[in-house]
Amino acid sequence: MITGKTLLVGIIGDPVEHSLSPPMHNAAFKHLEMDYVYVPFHVSGENLEKAIQGARSLEIRGLNVTIPHKTAVIPYLDEVDPAAQLIGAVNTIKFNEDKAKGFNTDGLGAVKALEEITPVKDKKVLIMGAGGAARALAFQLILNGIGDLVIANRTPEKAVQLALDIQSKLEFSPEATGLGEVELSSTDILINTTSVGMYPHQDQPPLIRGQQMHPELVVNDIIYNPLKTNLLKEAESIGARTLNGTKMLLYQGMESFRIWTGVTPPVEVFERSLMRTLGNKI
Ligand SMILES: NC(=O)c1ccc[n+]([C@@H]2O[C@H](COP(=O)([O-])OP(=O)(O)OC[C@H]3O[C@@H](n4cnc5c(N)ncnc54)[C@H](OP(=O)(O)O)[C@@H]3O)[C@@H](O)[C@H]2O)c1
Repeated sequence: MITGKTLLVGIIGDPVEHSLSPPMHNAAFKHLEMDYVYVPFHVSGENLEKAIQGARSLEIRGLNVTIPHKTAVIPYLDEVDPAAQLIGAVNTIKFNEDKAKGFNTDGLGAVKALEEITPVKDKKVLIMGAGGAARALAFQLILNGIGDLVIANRTPEKAVQLALDIQSKLEFSPEATGLGEVELSSTDILINTTSVGMYPHQDQPPLIRGQQMHPELVVNDIIYNPLKTNLLKEAESIGARTLNGTKMLLYQGMESFRIWTGVTPPVEVFERSLMRTLGNKI
């Protein structure tokens, strides 16, 4: 029951109505008997600054930030965590007294999920895509000690841009190519961060076929709808290990929850809620 003591967290985005986060967080608050509620707020770009000021005035405890505000929100914060600063995007804000601090839990969630399948240290990783998710993953993977990184994108110039940005901020030089030049014989981990194969385009042909892969490869598609993309089917067909995007989604949310409350929620509660929501959507 919402009372005068209930604490408020939520998500801002445009659009925001498709967000999977409210049910996951609210299920965990209920399970843990914590007096919080998580609410979606539709915020347009022109109202972003006012929304952050309003959140401070309303003593909102925390916000997730989604498309298209992850970068634009940074100037309105008092402090940004070093990894989020490197990535240049914030998906979690913690309001504490009068201070708003930004974090990025996307990269953290993705790498935690991957490390359950394989250690990433010293590995050679190939990321397909050079958008927001690719940025978060690339920086976090480098912070976690990968050995080599190739960024392959449909628009190669964007891959080059991301590689140059990484090079200017860290002592690390990724290789940048187009998707046509992908060569996987010496790659340990292949990650798809493009939207190719995502619902409602799940029948799209995958960017890489099984013949181009090898059985020791770990193939991570960060898409979670469908749970098994055509890329993952190709990987399975040659015996490679696979990982879909659900764990990344769960872990980024659980880390936001921890940042706001100091409590790590049980993964099963988040997962049950996510699967129920995805089940309703598919
Ligand atoms: N599991 C999770 O928690 C999680 C979190 C975030 C995102 N995601 C998923 O990650 C995907 C990308 O998200 P994002 O925020 O990074 O999006 P984004 O910034 O818009 O980037 C999209 C990327 O996909 C590429 N792309 C789009 N259509 C393509 C096509 N037909 N062929 C080849 N490449 C194509 C784009 O290439 P160009 O540069 O050439 O346009 C770009 O690199 C989405 O499917 C999203 O659902 C999952």
